[in-house]
Amino acid sequence: MQAIQLQQPGGLDKLDVVDLAAPGEPGPGEIKVRLHASSLNFHDYAVVAGMIPTEDGRIPMSDGAGVVEAVGEGVSEFAVGDAVVSTFFPGWLEGPARIADFRTTPGDGIDGYAREQVVASANSFTHQPKGYSHAEAATLTTAGLTAWRALVVDGGIKAGDTVLVLGTGGVSIFALQFAKMMGAQVIATSSSDEKLERLKALGADHVINYKTTPEWGKAVSELTAGEGVDHIVEVGGPGTLPQSIDAVKIGGHIALIGILTGRQGDIPTIKLMAKQATLKGLIVGSRRDQIDMTRAIDTLGLKPIIDREFALHEIADAFRHQESGKHFGKICLTF
Ligand SMILES: NC(=O)c1ccc[n+]([C@@H]2O[C@H](COP(=O)([O-])OP(=O)(O)OC[C@H]3O[C@@H](n4cnc5c(N)ncnc54)[C@H](OP(=O)(O)O)[C@@H]3O)[C@@H](O)[C@H]2O)c1
Repeated sequence: MQAIQLQQPGGLDKLDVVDLAAPGEPGPGEIKVRLHASSLNFHDYAVVAGMIPTEDGRIPMSDGAGVVEAVGEGVSEFAVGDAVVSTFFPGWLEGPARIADFRTTPGDGIDGYAREQVVASANSFTHQPKGYSHAEAATLTTAGLTAWRALVVDGGIKAGDTVLVLGTGGVSIFALQFAKMMGAQVIATSSSDEKLERLKALGADHVINYKTTPEWGKAVSELTAGEGVDHIVEVGGPGTLPQSIDAVKIGGHIALIGILTGRQGDIPTIKLMAKQATLKGLIVGSRRDQIDMTRAIDTLGLKPIIDREFALHEIADAFRHQESGKHFGKICLTF
């Protein structure tokens, strides 16, 4: 089977297309899946670009979607022919988070889904939403579930709430879609006026160019009659957090998700305290959260926004496209 392996110390020129032996039959509690798609996340980029060191020869990509080819003894949740999508933490089934690293995450601590077939525990997958393509399903594992957890599981979003999303990457576009689906008002930012128009077309109620309006926290406050927003999906990290603290409502919720602007920095502590806001870190979500999200998608019919699809062997070009920042929503691999 065709697969991609990453040679250390990483880099987009260190992604080899290889031919590996097909996996055997699934053992007890396992399933064999014929993979047809994956999707790119900033985390996958950090692994392949060498920002996160991993094992030599690691198969990258945390997201995988495909069809069940064989079912091991004791597996009743899946049958041959079922369309499935991978989970980010195969060992975190439900309940509160207990994992604070990526040692069990496919594509980082263990081999991922840039390959045509895999045998894994049945807990490594859930059913795809109805009517999804494999590429659409693959966007859910990381980006979809992170946005869902930020707003629904941790945020307890309700109709009439206000939500701020930053930029037009995978997590933020999902957050915009989920927020609209739940009846919230959305303010969205981007560095590109053309992307701002696309955000409006997707349902954003207000948009702000964060490059031409560097004090966008104040602008958000003005758009909400001085109140600020109930929820912020914070993908920027240290470079955006001070503005987000300006933008959040007293008692609001900031889901701290990303590090697009760096790994550490100063936080305006007094302002955060005075706002009495919750600043809550999160890493993706549990398998139960993914099942709940899928049920909501089935009910409400949300479809992911896919910017572009690449073939598996074009993986380096796909990451170059992500690196360019030209994308809007998700970039996928199909195979
Ligand atoms: N904690 C978790 O569980 C989790 C899960 C998924 C992702 N993440 C993190 O979340 C972040 C986003 O991930 P992703 O996969 O959605 O990335 P992505 O698809 O590569 O998103 C990149 C986009 O972010 C926007 N952006 C970049 N710098 C920005 C800034 N200073 N202010 C506002 N927007 C900015 C840009 O949008 P415009 O072009 O519109 O300006 C850019 O196109 C990453 O740091 C990633 O590691 C964390």
